[in-house]
Amino acid sequence: MFPKNCWYVACTPDEFNKKPLGRQICGENIVFYKGKYGVAAVEDFCPHRGAPLSLGYVEDGLLVCGYHGLKMGSDGKTVAMPGQRVRGFPCIRNYPVVERYGFVWVWTGDPELADTAKIPELEWANNPEWAYDGGLFHINCDYRLMIDNLMDLTHETYVHTSSIGQEEIDEAPVHTTSEEDMVVTSRFMDNVLAPPFWQAALRANNLADDVPVDRWQICRFTPPSHVMIEVGVAHAGKGGYEADPEFKVSSIVVDFITPETETSIWYFWGMARHFKPEDEKLTKQIREGQHHIFSEDLEMLERQQLNLLAYPERKLLKLNIDTGGVRSRRILDNMLKEEQQSIETLNL
Ligand code: FES
Ligand SMILES: [Fe+2]
Repeated sequence: MFPKNCWYVACTPDEFNKKPLGRQICGENIVFYKGKYGVAAVEDFCPHRGAPLSLGYVEDGLLVCGYHGLKMGSDGKTVAMPGQRVRGFPCIRNYPVVERYGFVWVWTGDPELADTAKIPELEWANNPEWAYDGGLFHINCDYRLMIDNLMDLTHETYVHTSSIGQEEIDEAPVHTTSEEDMVVTSRFMDNVLAPPFWQAALRANNLADDVPVDRWQICRFTPPSHVMIEVGVAHAGKGGYEADPEFKVSSIVVDFITPETETSIWYFWGMARHFKPEDEKLTKQIREGQHHIFSEDLEMLERQQLNLLAYPERKLLKLNIDTGGVRSRRILDNMLKEEQQSIETLNL
């Protein structure tokens, strides 16, 4: 179950640079392509014989079906087809779609409600003081399992032992707060040794990597499924999170989790860095490190999903470390309820 009246990250523009991209988002088969006026998204279904339009190509901003040459417009209306009159052809669905901050955002619900002001503001994007890079994973799990994973970083000690994990994570208490549409889980670890990933970051910023540090993780969930995590370390005793930039390295772990089906996701991950933004080598190095770290979560999530599917009736525990995930789900449940109610009202 996923809310549909919201913007999801669907892809990055380079993914449909050369040919149309077919991608299932929230159970909808959609094709993304470069239309006459920028990115366009329509149902991946040719009204002639049902072939996927994503197997076709783009010509003069029109999507051409790769089977018999039907030409589709970005509004879902057939424009032409060799040897045919197309006026009576049925329309296919088109989707509100926007390119912003280097991502393509799609609205899978009621198009009347698609307000671009609802796309989250990303302070680090298009800002020369920040560097960003990231990637995409396809994972066979419910999108909410990924939210749980990111809203409870206790797992770092066990899943990411060699990079960002450390025992003190277990020992430091988590604090969870929530507002109407945001859940924040934070953890501060003072006077600890930096784990390998952060030692490398300290060195890259010309800071000593073998002295105690104050470390922080602040995870922010906003619906439908965005989790931004402020992370960093500062030389111990310099103010921690509030320390002057000369004593710290800090970043935002960027996570956009887009449901594909009930049990699979497109996971857009990345890191926005607020130090040495011009250092491209460092950007590449961090991306590789992050790729390695996030691939460590994959097996755990996919096998967890299989277990849950095999034993759907089993009750799971909700411990204090799970509060962030539990509250995020509550927000989602309310959104789903609202969407359901408005559909029922329309059907009355
Ligand atoms: S199926 Fe697309 S043109 Fe025939
Ligand atoms: Fe992880």
